[in-house]
Amino acid sequence: MSVITCIEDLRVLAQKRVPRMFYDYADSGSWTESTYRANEADFQSIKLRQRVAVNMDGRSTATTMIGRPVSMPVAIAPTGMTGMQHADGEILAAQAAEAFGVPFTLSTMSICSIEDVAARTTAPFWFQLYVMKDKGFIHSLIDRAKAAKCDALVLTLDLQILGQRHKDLKNGLSAPPKLTLPNLINMATKPRWCLGMLGTPRRQFGNIVGHVKGVGDMSSLSEWTAKQFDPQLSWNDVQWIRERWGGKLIIKGIIDEEDAKLAAASGADALIVSNHGGRQLDGAESSIRALPRIVEAVGDRIEVHMDGGIRSGQDVLKAWALGARGTYIGRAFLYGLGAMGKPGVSRALEIIHRELDLTMAFCGHRELRGVDRQVLLPGTWPSA
Ligand code: GLV
Repeated sequence: MSVITCIEDLRVLAQKRVPRMFYDYADSGSWTESTYRANEADFQSIKLRQRVAVNMDGRSTATTMIGRPVSMPVAIAPTGMTGMQHADGEILAAQAAEAFGVPFTLSTMSICSIEDVAARTTAPFWFQLYVMKDKGFIHSLIDRAKAAKCDALVLTLDLQILGQRHKDLKNGLSAPPKLTLPNLINMATKPRWCLGMLGTPRRQFGNIVGHVKGVGDMSSLSEWTAKQFDPQLSWNDVQWIRERWGGKLIIKGIIDEEDAKLAAASGADALIVSNHGGRQLDGAESSIRALPRIVEAVGDRIEVHMDGGIRSGQDVLKAWALGARGTYIGRAFLYGLGAMGKPGVSRALEIIHRELDLTMAFCGHRELRGVDRQVLLPGTWPSA
């Protein structure tokens, strides 16, 4: 491909360069994938109002997320096995985010460990926590995130049990991949990926392997989650985790107003309207449709962020207009990473930034403050 101009170009290139099981892991949802598709499609149905003959000079997309200055209201979402899309993926993505002035969130289920990322970045990153049965292990993850100077904890509440993704089961997803004949044949067509992987020691779940007694090999994400994640997770856990952490807390995985009210009451600093990228409850509402109701219910009490379906800066502006004070990109950065490594993540951020900046200007604004529902065509956006 000659010139990369949009996230779709990065997706196409990533599909060529990343072994099928890892590309499919990113580009899939649970069961029929209807929620996965709705996350994107519902953004498309929202229309913008173009204004003309307004001063468009001297624009800025800068704002803050949980009080932290950001060059645009876009953070890198926590995604599992990022270091399998490209060798050292989490480190590279964190470095690209740092250079761009946006937050990077490291998943519990990352390949590069908290310490690996901290040693190779300067700006503080955010750490995403899953609640596991072994409370001692959660304590140690929280303490490691503190020691690494992470400046927010993103607590995921929507994955006590894992949604079924057909492709992962059919592909036999694991990290590192099992050296079966079909995998070897597929990997033979991805020489860049193989070279990268041969050149790094980071090929297992870095936050876990070597940190939990008796866990030397935990290649299968689904087996690990089934055994270790806590199906009894409750709002009481949010309290003790918040106390032990003591810093900024973001609750991830809210798609219902009643849960949003509980999140606001929990004392968290922000919540993320999210259906886990359509990877958990298939048939759940898209994030952009749920957003206005949740903003209406709790937007005056807690900062509301959202993820799910963001593939352009236009999507970011639509989410902002509907009250999101921060958005997260998962697949959009993973495609960049799989396509071109760190420059690919930087490219994804540049593309989204440029689209956001131009769209804001076309809608008659030079800064995000002041952008609200007035930029959306009435009747095309979901009302509260
Ligand atoms: C983990 O977060 C997943 O969705 O696979």
